[in-house]
Amino acid sequence: MTPEPVTPEPVISEPAPVTLPEKRTVDVVTVTPNPAIDWTVTVPGFAAGAVNRATGERSQPAGKGVNVAAALAGYGQGVAATGFLGRDNAAAFEAFFAARRIGDAFVRVDGPTRTGIKIVDPDRQETTDVNFPGAMVSGDHLDALRERVKALAARGNRWFVLAGSLPPGADASLYAVLTRSITAAGCRVVVDTSGDALHQALDAAPSIVKPNVHELEALAGRALPSTADVADAARALLERGVELAAVSMGAEGALFVTREAIVHARPPAVEVGSTVGAGDAMVAGIVAARLAGLDLAATARLATAFSVAALTRKEPGAPSRAEIEAIAERVGIDPVG
Ligand SMILES: Nc1ncnc2c1ncn2[C@@H]1O[C@H](COP(=O)(O)OP(=O)(O)OP(=O)(O)O)[C@@H](O)[C@H]1O
Ligand SMILES: [Mg+2]
Repeated sequence: MTPEPVTPEPVISEPAPVTLPEKRTVDVVTVTPNPAIDWTVTVPGFAAGAVNRATGERSQPAGKGVNVAAALAGYGQGVAATGFLGRDNAAAFEAFFAARRIGDAFVRVDGPTRTGIKIVDPDRQETTDVNFPGAMVSGDHLDALRERVKALAARGNRWFVLAGSLPPGADASLYAVLTRSITAAGCRVVVDTSGDALHQALDAAPSIVKPNVHELEALAGRALPSTADVADAARALLERGVELAAVSMGAEGALFVTREAIVHARPPAVEVGSTVGAGDAMVAGIVAARLAGLDLAATARLATAFSVAALTRKEPGAPSRAEIEAIAERVGIDPVG
């Protein structure tokens, strides 16, 4: 099979500065190899196998690293985003990045970026997801992404967030390979993915990982019914070179585990709109906390506030710094062990 041609694009060492506001330098680069457009359809009383009536719809560029970039940009951080974008519907992403001052460093590929369907039932407060695997990427595309990440890491002293699933055609070692190249250039890596991609990424010792408890159970190969079980499994990740393992547990909050200490961050009682993307917002909050040089408890507090701000938000768009900081004061922090 001949590899798909990749339109020659200059490998940029910096995203176009026009997309970043004045005085913002790029502190964070998010990598989303398999983004999606989320097509959210509101269907009160949705029933499978029946005729349903939609009362609303919304289409929004997404994918974990795109969500992380949007949350960080909303907080005021300088962010660029890379990964693969299908040329056919790139315009929606381009408008999204421009509106949020996110530097666009995506590698363009032929065809469209996949669309995922989210059916929201406001009556039962349930969301039904229909996800597509995404378009196949070629060896040339993967080479272009590796080169781009290398170029973006060349300045050193940046955070990289590698997030979400891998597209068909990408080997499960992709995040491990990228982590090694980023770390070698003097930048730091957060990985938020699952399954084999996460398993292999750990061999490259990213600085931070944020599995949810289900992803950690899959990794550990056992159920983790108690907080002590979760803490044990998270400590095993530290032995592999991770500095901070944040394990999110939905409404139960999250454990933030380092070699020195463990804290349990508990979200305040809130009215939850949709929990979609709460984990992505938490990843953004962890990076914002690291950039601010916060200690473990303050990191846990800010990261939890990012996630709660995302899941209580009524309007579209990322929460502001002021909204997040107001929530942070209401996060409970308990030392563990
Ligand atoms: N129902 C909820 N009530 C209050 N807080 C919540 C709820 N769900 C999630 N959170 C907050 O969001 C954080 C991350 O949520 P969760 O563990 O669901 O992440 P995730 O499974 O990685 O989500 P994602 O779908 O974004 O990948 C939690 O640690 C908690 O602070
Ligand atoms: Mg998650």
